Amino acid sequence: MRLLVCGGAGFIGSTFARQRVKEHGDEVRVLDKLTYAGREENLQDLEDDPGFEFVRGAIEDPEAVARALDGSGESPIGEVEAIVNFAAETHVDRSIAEPDAFVRTHALGTYVLLEAARERGLRYVQVSTDEVYGSIEQGTFTEESPLRPSSPYSATKTGADLLVQSYHHTYELPASIVRGSNNYGPYQYPEKLIPLMVLNAVHGDGLPVYGDGMQVRNWIHATDFARAIGHVLAYGEAGEVYNAGGPDEEANIDVVKRIVALTGAREDQIEYVNDRPGHDRRYSLSSEKVRALGWEPRVRFADGLAETVAWYRENEWWWGPIRSGSYRAYYERQYGKALS
Ligand code: NAD
Ligand code: TYD
Repeated sequence: MRLLVCGGAGFIGSTFARQRVKEHGDEVRVLDKLTYAGREENLQDLEDDPGFEFVRGAIEDPEAVARALDGSGESPIGEVEAIVNFAAETHVDRSIAEPDAFVRTHALGTYVLLEAARERGLRYVQVSTDEVYGSIEQGTFTEESPLRPSSPYSATKTGADLLVQSYHHTYELPASIVRGSNNYGPYQYPEKLIPLMVLNAVHGDGLPVYGDGMQVRNWIHATDFARAIGHVLAYGEAGEVYNAGGPDEEANIDVVKRIVALTGAREDQIEYVNDRPGHDRRYSLSSEKVRALGWEPRVRFADGLAETVAWYRENEWWWGPIRSGSYRAYYERQYGKALS
């Protein structure tokens, strides 16, 4: 297929683009605004591939979206057949501090993409999150669970999902939604729990655990989530939502202790810090519906985490510029102390 992958310079979008070009022979044009989290470095190994093209632009800009969909005269890839939308502001803590970009990208950006898909009659897949369901103490969320988002991040992602569903209902746009659980793996920006802890661990910095550290997340490797999205694109029904959850759940403190063991850091680097306001206690997703389409996760958390720690150790070229750039100022604002 010829695909427009919005937000494809981010963590999961670049994993998806790589998988589609290298494993499926798809043609992929990435449209990405290159926010602090978007990096062309994430797509370096695709740059010379004839089936790949990068375009810088924002999804809330209708002209940029039109150019990216229709292709220019020199473009190696012609008009695309489907849009897969990863573009988002993705960090809950940033949404608490500064929600405005979350509203713009998730509400306005998704609207612009949906309009462009409607005009051209394109297949559309929206990448979403388990956080739209809110927190669950026991049991697991299905696609029928009520939507009870709790942060500006998850509330605006929920708004985007509802808009996608309205375009299917009202205009019969062939759109589907895939909701993933917490992703991890190579190329994840170090503001998120796992890469933050890995890099702090190897630098001898503190490991800031929010609250009591007993919040539970349902971990999925980004390659498994990317395959689920590809699966829904190929076999999913229009108008349907599919949950894609990972095979393992773990409390944050246990994840941090695994990272301490894998990096040879000291347990006394662990610091309990103030809890996140409105912190969701537990996420858990049932994936029966996408499993019925023939998908299943392949990577167990213990193996995937060890590989991820090894990747960060071996790829300082990737994280070095982040850790010495504007991320330092973000870290100081968020954690009230400097990185080493
Ligand atoms: P990320 O922050 O690494 O990447 C987001 C990408 O979107 C970046 O490349 C950024 O430059 C781009 N972007 C942001 N605003 C844009 C705009 N207005 N126009 C164009 N591009 C823009 O995020 P990620 O972790 O790869 O998440 C990708 C998607 O998956 C998001 O929609 C997120 O909600 C969803 N998701 C993430 C997780 C997770 O654990 N990371 C879990 C479930 C779902
Ligand atoms: P995060 O990676 O931000 O993902 P999400 O909020 O989308 O689940 O955080 C994962 C969990 O780790 C969450 O419960 C918050 C917690 N956390 C910490 O304890 N310390 C930290 O420094 C960070 C970034 C997260």
